[in-house]
Amino acid sequence: MPPAAVMKAADVSSSDALFIVPFARDDSFVGREDTIAKISERKAAASIHTRVALVGLGGVGKSQIAIEYAYRIQTAEPHVLVVWIHASNPTRFRQGYRDLADKLLLPGREDAKTDVLQLVHAWLSDKRNGPWLMILDNVDDDGVFFGDDQDSTGTGAVQADHGRPLESSLPQATHGTVLITSRNNVAATNLVGGHGDVVQVEPMGEDEALAVTTAPHQGAIWRLQLSRRQGACPCARAYASCH
Ligand SMILES: Nc1ncnc2c1ncn2[C@@H]1O[C@H](COP(=O)(O)OP(=O)(O)OP(=O)(O)O)[C@@H](O)[C@H]1O
Ligand SMILES: [Mg+2]
Repeated sequence: MPPAAVMKAADVSSSDALFIVPFARDDSFVGREDTIAKISERKAAASIHTRVALVGLGGVGKSQIAIEYAYRIQTAEPHVLVVWIHASNPTRFRQGYRDLADKLLLPGREDAKTDVLQLVHAWLSDKRNGPWLMILDNVDDDGVFFGDDQDSTGTGAVQADHGRPLESSLPQATHGTVLITSRNNVAATNLVGGHGDVVQVEPMGEDEALAVTTAPHQGAIWRLQLSRRQGACPCARAYASCH
């Protein structure tokens, strides 16, 4: 009989997969249907690995779209593993892979000599483990995935991938989709490469913005945000024009 860890990894593709998103679904989410449709269309059209990047100003709503998309995938395709990884710097990305290895109970993950990035890469690359969606949030620095990964913590595992760009930890699997959020067009374009599209996220149109400002629970939050960073958030112009 195989060890429990192997059973767990093999089971993932045959039942509801893991859903690792550290945010609740926002009941007040409105609009952005065109952007979500672009992600879905790109994924549906691809016969190879897919990457889509959402690019726009801080506060414009990129992460909210990614959260909403993740929950829609969970509902429509519960067999798809969904994992959210903060990717603002190499340490957080590495921690995301470590957490995923733990959640998947990947054998060997606790061995000091194991390269966890490689371990997760190999698991995600194996089609038998099922389809997956990886959200890389806050890819604002091009150096995170294309630098020489100097952000080490001194462990054996980190030494093992010293000098290798973190981009090589992202499997280019046909059964995998990477959704990126970024304020940086260059970082997003480089990471998407030839695998997909960069989708610009603009401030919301007037109708969508009005729906946000009148949605339950949202009015007070928006008024606070607007007073802090008018011009950057999704509905700033529309809100300002009607208040
Ligand atoms: N479609 C939406 N419906 C309702 N509220 C929204 C929507 N989009 C954004 N918001 C509100 O705007 C806030 C900021 O959005 P979000 O965090 O997605 O911005 P961002 O583009 O990811 O910014 P950053 O670049 O700083 O990460 C959210 O916390 C939410 O309150
Ligand atoms: Mg964000």
